[in-house]
Amino acid sequence: MSVDDDRPVNHHADHPGFSGVTGALVGLVLLFMGRADARLAADLTEVGADDTVVDIGCGPGKAAREAARRGAAVIGIDPAPVMLGLARAVTRHGTIAWATGTAERVPLPDASATVAWSLATVHHWKDVDAGLSELRRLLEPGGRLLAVERQVDGSATGLASHGWTRQQADSFAAQCSSAGFRDVTVTGRKAGRRDVWVVQAVRP
Ligand SMILES: C[S@@+](CC[C@H](N)C(=O)[O-])C[C@H]1O[C@@H](n2cnc3c(N)ncnc32)[C@H](O)[C@@H]1O
Repeated sequence: MSVDDDRPVNHHADHPGFSGVTGALVGLVLLFMGRADARLAADLTEVGADDTVVDIGCGPGKAAREAARRGAAVIGIDPAPVMLGLARAVTRHGTIAWATGTAERVPLPDASATVAWSLATVHHWKDVDAGLSELRRLLEPGGRLLAVERQVDGSATGLASHGWTRQQADSFAAQCSSAGFRDVTVTGRKAGRRDVWVVQAVRP
């Protein structure tokens, strides 16, 4: 057991790096990183033309664009203007809308999505229970929830700690169950060369 095994799943809720010059640099890095986690999310949720996907914490939008490439209607949600600006600047798909919001407050009607995913972002949510309640609200019955986080060591610090230990993935799964989701699973997967945790669940 590592020294930091009791860290909450949103252990970087107060991360300040998504505005101004730093935010733009992080956005550019995310833009040029591999699409492996976006492809993994789209594969595991079996996204297709009948879906409306909400990408929570979309950043510069690579997973939103992956869903659009597979025919889905997509809404990318992010609180950071610099991320949404980058996403808009590089997107050519007409089926993607972008909106300012957070996991805790999504500007969409009840039951308006079939898929809600959050990639490398739950560890930044301010309030995980509020976020899950909000995602349950906006998913239609049978809607699929998916979270992806990089596998990290519990003793990691700084950038290397941006992700989850197995224990954090399990804690998030337990919070999904408490929020009323069913069929909650935690799996370790490969996204390109990276090891990630994937939590999936279904809105009853
Ligand atoms: C590491 S980036 C990941 C971006 C994108 N999902 C990707 O994989 O490229 C984390 C993103 O979460 C966003 N974020 C921070 N707090 C959030 C919250 N409470 N709800 C939703 N998104 C949030 C940030 O603005 C940032 O764009």
